[in-house]
Amino acid sequence: MAARRIACLAAGLWLAGAPVFGADPAVLAPRVPPDQMAEVRTWANPFPATREHVEQGKALFHGKGFCAACHGQDGTGLGDVPGVRGALPRNFTDRAWQAARTDGELFWILKHGSPGTDMASFIPLVLTEEEAWHVLLYIRSFGRT
Ligand code: HEC
Repeated sequence: MAARRIACLAAGLWLAGAPVFGADPAVLAPRVPPDQMAEVRTWANPFPATREHVEQGKALFHGKGFCAACHGQDGTGLGDVPGVRGALPRNFTDRAWQAARTDGELFWILKHGSPGTDMASFIPLVLTEEEAWHVLLYIRSFGRT
């Protein structure tokens, strides 16, 4: 009995800890529907990653975009919003995840949200398309730290 309880506990801890490891297949699986992927991958960020543009993205991430509320001040996805259910907010410092996504796929997420999760659509209600591209420059900067 005790052994079984310990085994369950260990399995639970493993599951809870799983998103921390970069190569989690559930995290890396594409969010963009297959029939849109070819087009979405052609979308490129029109703004270069200058320090000024990244700073503008940072201000939006912590300010009116309120991304930090869920994705954490440091982008690790450990923000503590009561009531977030299901998929955990993405850890932007996960290099495997950064490498798995094109800029177009990230932009698609800001337009549509990630269906079935607490990641909502931000364009156009919260962010303009221009602002979204700036936030994405800041999100990319987490992968370089
Ligand atoms: C209410 C909480 C919440 C807020 C606020 C939030 N996110 Fe998210 N975000 C999530 C969750 C949960 C996921 C994971 C969704 C999934 O696994 O598909 C996610 C995933 C993402 C992803 C990754 C999608 C992928 O392709 O893997 C990006 C990019 C993202 N968020 C950007 C942002 C930006 C930029 C903001 C601010 C403008 C923001 N998020 C605000 C909860 C949030």
